[in-house]
Amino acid sequence: MERLQKVMAQAGVASRRQSEEWIRQGLVKVNGQLVTTLGVKVDPTSDVIEVKGKRIQLESKRMFLFYKPLQVITSMSDPQGRRVVADFFRHIPERVYPVGRLDYDTEGLLLVTNDGELANRLTHPRYKVAKQYVATVKGRPNREVLKQLQNGVLLEDGVTLPAQVRLLESSPKQSKLELTIYEGRNRQVRRMCDAVGHPVIHLKRTRFAFLTLKGLKPGQFRELTQSEMTHLNKILRER
Ligand code: URA
Repeated sequence: MERLQKVMAQAGVASRRQSEEWIRQGLVKVNGQLVTTLGVKVDPTSDVIEVKGKRIQLESKRMFLFYKPLQVITSMSDPQGRRVVADFFRHIPERVYPVGRLDYDTEGLLLVTNDGELANRLTHPRYKVAKQYVATVKGRPNREVLKQLQNGVLLEDGVTLPAQVRLLESSPKQSKLELTIYEGRNRQVRRMCDAVGHPVIHLKRTRFAFLTLKGLKPGQFRELTQSEMTHLNKILRER
């Protein structure tokens, strides 16, 4: 059971405060009964809620795993007309948006949802959700550099949290690193690699929590399964 004004806000009818105002003004009915006091709880899956005579429809919560291609903006629109994440989801009726962001020049795993609360928790630093990247960098990072990336690098917004770092391939000209980080600052991986003298040439996010890109090509997405959703919620509850 949830508060009536919260359910109204979730349905996208109005803000919570505006919904409260409408309840007080006698514009809201639950199962045919006028409700004019705050604090009434409803079951959003079974109660019929009418606002100004119109029944509200609750959107079902959806969560997609998207393989963002390079040169796509993590946004719903772009004034310069570049490709945006929303372009790939035009046929999905729910108003979905990206969970966090990937740079224009970063490809890889991006969650896309209409569940604002879950999106907030997944990106909140408090939950320390693991994000794994494969970065192709200039030059060959030595052991000292790998240790630095692991222990924390001083950036202009502070020292980064401990990370996991593996050298996947290396040559004098360029190397491949796998980095797992637990925060999501703006351009964090690029700034970390810059800070240790190995600028990023190419960047791909390969994992978010336990989710991977398996089976997807750039531009494709799939809906999370019920068991993946349960697992995701469980991770957040445990933290
Ligand atoms: N770190 C970056 O530098 N860029 C991204 O897109 C994601 C993480």
